[in-house]
Amino acid sequence: MEEKQEKRRLVLVPVPAQGHISPMMQLAKTLHLKGFSITVVQTKFNHFIPSDDFTDFQFVTIPESLPESDFNHLGPTGFLLKLNKECQVSFKDCLGQLLLPKSDEISCVIYDEFMYFAEAAATEFNLPHVIFSTTSAAAFKCRSVFEKLYANNGPKELQEELVPEFYPLRYKDFPVSRSASLESIMEFYRNTVDQRTASSVIINTASCLESSSLSFLQQQQQQLKIPLYPIGPLHMVASVPTSLLEENNTCIEWLNKHKVNSVIYISMGSLALMEINEVMETASGLAASNQQFLWVIRPGSIRGSEWTESLPQEFSKMVSDRGYILKWAPQMKVLAHPAIGGFWSHCGWNSTLESLGEGVPMICRPFSGDQKANARYLECVWKIGIQVEGELDKGLVERAVKRLMVEEEGEEMRKRAVSLKEQIRASVKSEGSSHNSLEEFVHFMRTL
Ligand code: UDX
Repeated sequence: MEEKQEKRRLVLVPVPAQGHISPMMQLAKTLHLKGFSITVVQTKFNHFIPSDDFTDFQFVTIPESLPESDFNHLGPTGFLLKLNKECQVSFKDCLGQLLLPKSDEISCVIYDEFMYFAEAAATEFNLPHVIFSTTSAAAFKCRSVFEKLYANNGPKELQEELVPEFYPLRYKDFPVSRSASLESIMEFYRNTVDQRTASSVIINTASCLESSSLSFLQQQQQQLKIPLYPIGPLHMVASVPTSLLEENNTCIEWLNKHKVNSVIYISMGSLALMEINEVMETASGLAASNQQFLWVIRPGSIRGSEWTESLPQEFSKMVSDRGYILKWAPQMKVLAHPAIGGFWSHCGWNSTLESLGEGVPMICRPFSGDQKANARYLECVWKIGIQVEGELDKGLVERAVKRLMVEEEGEEMRKRAVSLKEQIRASVKSEGSSHNSLEEFVHFMRTL
C-alpha cells in the first residue's frame, strides 16, 4: 500500500478521567512526533490543561447536558454508559464541522475503547477508526468473555477458583464493579468489546509483560481481521505532563534526605475511595512497621472528609515521625527516585506500568475494575507484588510492609523488578517489540 506524504490529522477521543487521559495524551504526543496533526475532542468533564508540550494541538469541547455531579454519583460504569448516549449526536456534529474546511484532512479517529460513541459518527463519515485500549491485555481479554461467563448472574459459588484458561485470575478477579449492577456492566462491556467496523486496535502494554493474553487476543483479532498492536508502556515512549491535579514537588526534597530503597510510596490513584477506619488501620500499621513512607491522600478520597480533617487526632501522631503526607505527587519522579523501595498501590494500570518501568516492587490493594487482575499478575506472574486481601487491619499492613521493605522476600522481588524493568525498557527501544509494533501501526496509519 502506498504511504500518503502530506500531514494528516488524527482525531483523538479520551475518557475524561486521569487514568485514561494520561495514556491518550502520551499517544497523542507520540503520533505528533511521527508527523501527524492532532485534534483532541473532549467534554466538560476533562479538566486537562495542556502545557507547552501540546502547543500545536487542537482541543475541541463537545456539548452534553450531563450535570457535573453525575461523574461522582453514577459510578464509573453508569457515568460512561450515560456519557456515551449523550455524546453521540454532538460528536457527529463536531466531526462534521471539523471536516468542513478540508474534507480529506482527517485520516482517522482514535477513541478510548470506553468512548465507543465515536464509532457511529466515524462510520457515517466513512472515516477509518482505531480503538485504543488503555488497560491491560488481561483486562481486555476478561471483558471479551465477560457476558458469557456472567450471563446467569455470575458464578458466585466459584469466586475463589481459577477461571480455566485465565491463569492466574480467579472468578473474583474479573472486572466487576461494586457501584454498578451486573446488567449495566454487561451492557457496557458488550459495547466496548464489539469492534464493529474498527480498522485496528492499539493497546498500552508490552509483549514481555502479557504474552499469553496478547496471543489470545491476537488470535481473536485475526479472525475478525482487525490487527492488534501492543505499543506500550506509552509513558516510556513520550514523557509529557498530563496531571489533572497540581503536583506537590516538595516531596522530592524530602526523599533526597533518605537512603536508597528506604521509603515506601503509597497512592490509591485518582478515583478510589477509602473509609476512615481503613486509613487509620493503614496509618497504625505503617507506624508499627518502623518504615519511612510517602503517602498521597487525594482530597475527597476519604469518605465523609474533604481531606484529612475528619480523621481522629491519633492520625497525625502516627504519621508525624516517619511519614510525609501530601495531596498529589509527581508520581513518575517519585517512583524514579532511588529512595523509593516499594509502592503500596490500588494497581490502576498506569500506576502498575509506571512502577514496573522503574523496577519498584509493590503491595497490591486493588479496589475495583481491572485493578484486581493487575494485582494478580503482579503477585503470581511477574512475582513482584504482595497482595493484601480482606479487611484491612494494622497487623496486615505492618506484615505486608515489612515483607516488602525489610525481609529477604522483598529483596528478591526488587531484583526481579529490576530485571523486568530492563526488559520493558528494551521493548520500547529500537527493534524492541513495542517499538516495532508502533512503527507498524504508524505505517498502517499513513496508508489510510
Ligand atoms: C483508573 C482505574 O482506576 C484504573 O484501574 C484503570 O486502569 C485506569 O483508570 P486511576 O485510578 O486513575 O485509573 O489509576 P491509574 O491508572 O494508576 O492512574 C493514576 C495516574 O495518576 C497515574 O498515571 C499516576 O502517575 C498519576 N498520579 C497518581 C499522580 O500523578 N500523582 C499522584 O499523587 C497519584
